[in-house]
Amino acid sequence: MSYRVLITEPIVESVIQKLEEHFKVEVGERGQFYDEASLLEVIGDFDALLPMLSSPVTDKVLNAGNRLKVVANHAVGYNNVDIEAAQQAGIKVANTPGVLSESSADCAMALLLATARKIVEAQDFLYEGKFDGWDPLSFLGMELNGKTMGIFGMGRIGKAVARRAKGFGISILYHNRNRVEKELEQELDAEYIPKLETLAERADILSLNCPLTDETHHAIDAEMLKRMPSHALLINTARGPVVDEEALAEALHNGEIGGAGLDVFEEEPEVHPRLLTAPNCVLTPHIASATHETRKAIGMLAANAIIGVLDGTPDEQIPNLVHV
Ligand code: GLV
Repeated sequence: MSYRVLITEPIVESVIQKLEEHFKVEVGERGQFYDEASLLEVIGDFDALLPMLSSPVTDKVLNAGNRLKVVANHAVGYNNVDIEAAQQAGIKVANTPGVLSESSADCAMALLLATARKIVEAQDFLYEGKFDGWDPLSFLGMELNGKTMGIFGMGRIGKAVARRAKGFGISILYHNRNRVEKELEQELDAEYIPKLETLAERADILSLNCPLTDETHHAIDAEMLKRMPSHALLINTARGPVVDEEALAEALHNGEIGGAGLDVFEEEPEVHPRLLTAPNCVLTPHIASATHETRKAIGMLAANAIIGVLDGTPDEQIPNLVHV
């Protein structure tokens, strides 16, 4: 009997082909499996699931998957998968660490540059035919050289952001569950800040690069936003719910902070309506890992975990299994 794999929506074709060399593969339609009920309907037929971060792989789904052996999330973040329920059901979970750090860090810098230098606003102005010659007083933004970036979450992506920021003449502070190795702090000239509150107070730019957990949910709330300097920029390429979006919209409209560059939102694909009208805000539709190279690498890493588990490879030899 050939194993059956469900990929919840179309992904890079060569990844699908790779899985098809080994298994019987079904690919859902875009949007088809964004809710629990749709997954519950079919999950009993599959040995492996390759979901997007937009598919809720809940305990109900996992328990209904009576032949399910592995869930390989097409993302590094796996807050959409109930890890404890998977463990209890003996289902292995994989994610895609490493391969998207550089593209995600590029996106964080793109949002920072766009926000600090009002690139989108300036482009709109030009497209609207308003450019009437060089203006000494228009579109004045924040100079990055000499500023301080606070990085919340110094994992792979946080480090990649720090390396880039350093190249722009930005000093690095960071807050993380654990302090990173001395060598890395030295390489990045990074200062460890034990309290998130202090990071918020000292940073001209606050970059969120942490996973979404119970601890980080709404870590950036109204109180934390008030601690940020009024010129400070918030960059979020992590997960929307790390920020209380209502409070952020309020802070932007009231001028409590200087601007925000956001790639992720609390209720994706919804975007808080007051963010859409907020000043100095650059918003992108969760594209941090969207490069040809990275999306292929994400798919291959997820596919390899499925191949490994279904072929009976020992866990230690599957580098991207999530262990809790
Ligand atoms: C994208 O958001 C990811 O977690 O890979």
